Amino acid sequence: MNDAVQPPDTDSEGLRNRAVQALTAARDRTELLTSCVDDAELTAQHSPLMSPLVWDLAHIGNQEELWLLRNVAGRDALRPEIDSVYDAFEHPRSARPTLPLLAPAEARSYAAQVRGRALDVLERSPLRGGPLEADAFAFGMVAQHEQQHDETMLITHQLRRGPTALTAPAPPPAPEGAARLPAEVLVAGGPFEMGTSLEPWALDNERPAHVTFVPSFHLDTTPVSCGAYLSFVEDGGYADPRWWQPAGWGTVQEHGLRAPLFWRREGGEWLRRHFGTTEPVPLDEPVLHVSWYEADAYARWAGRRLPSEAEWEKAARHDPVSGRSTRYPWGDADPSPDRANLGQRHLRPAPVGAYPAGESPLGVRQLIGDVWEWTSSDLLPYPGFAPFPYREYSEVFFGPGHKVLRGGSFGVDQVACRGTFRNWDLPVRRQIFAGFRTARDAAAGEL
Ligand code: AVJ
Ligand code: FE
Repeated sequence: MNDAVQPPDTDSEGLRNRAVQALTAARDRTELLTSCVDDAELTAQHSPLMSPLVWDLAHIGNQEELWLLRNVAGRDALRPEIDSVYDAFEHPRSARPTLPLLAPAEARSYAAQVRGRALDVLERSPLRGGPLEADAFAFGMVAQHEQQHDETMLITHQLRRGPTALTAPAPPPAPEGAARLPAEVLVAGGPFEMGTSLEPWALDNERPAHVTFVPSFHLDTTPVSCGAYLSFVEDGGYADPRWWQPAGWGTVQEHGLRAPLFWRREGGEWLRRHFGTTEPVPLDEPVLHVSWYEADAYARWAGRRLPSEAEWEKAARHDPVSGRSTRYPWGDADPSPDRANLGQRHLRPAPVGAYPAGESPLGVRQLIGDVWEWTSSDLLPYPGFAPFPYREYSEVFFGPGHKVLRGGSFGVDQVACRGTFRNWDLPVRRQIFAGFRTARDAAAGEL
């Protein structure tokens, strides 16, 4: 088995265009997220879990300066005095409002100045030679970094009080043929190629490609819906320690948890706050804003379990006919609006059973987009992992403290979302756009 096909545009002009397009799309989105609120709101802390938006803005510029101007082009620091303010490891999010942050106008002009120079560097780079420039990797990495912070800023908008500052987009598509969709599929045991060595902009933790044996298992064809999750809530799931990991049960008791974040019960009806609007809990949409502990508890209540990361990726990439691993569930083509709900296009997940064109050959839907999906796996390096280009992207997070999420949400851009992409967070986190689907072992004799 060889690694997936060569992705398109590997000639240098194609790569250069792809990099310009990715950087420009990221900056357009950053501007959308930061121009819709006033300066007071940009510098305020909307939640202790999040940075002020103006920190994200200047941090985006600072990382771009570090990688593209200093490391790729060998330039001196534009403003060496600000580096420590925008170092994510020096200051936890909760402490960032007290730092000497650049004011909004300064942060904007700093990011714009860096961008102008970065585009010059891109124009002049041969896009080969050192590993940062080869395949325009550093440019793709910087675009992904900005889009990751754009998703983070979108979470800040969700946590913000009052009416949303974002304009309401068209609703996502309805389910299609979902009535005929089986609840789960059987994935036959066998070897499968996980990770990638060829995808040019894959980050260090997605590498290298390696064969892993995945025993037969059953997997839900869609993410778990709010309606299904509500059955767990109404069955007293949050009052029964049998379903919970001890640490998860501790958080339920400590914080008096009774339902997903943003849900509340009023006059016999379950409501949720979603981007400034209170609405009835949408029973047919994937459940959102649950912690790993809540996902794990639901699965146990349902007599099931979370899929491992390898199971998730096999369901998303394995083509049983060719035996090959594809870039996405639908094949090797880049995402399109008929296949996946990405990029803040709808500001909410589509109902379960949507996007038949995005289905995998194994018959699993909505693996890419809609909601990040918690897996049972800890974030660990693949065999042969090498940190690149910095240990602080992934390596320092390896270990049992962080759980892996896969597939991307409605709030992630396609440049930072693919079949191999690995996200992670602490198992208590609920503000991220995370849901899950469930799995179970196949019985002996079922392939
Ligand atoms: C990979 C999404 C967990 O946001 O903490 C942003 C991405 N790394 N800046 C995060 C990241 C450095 C990271 N996640
Ligand atoms: Fe960052």
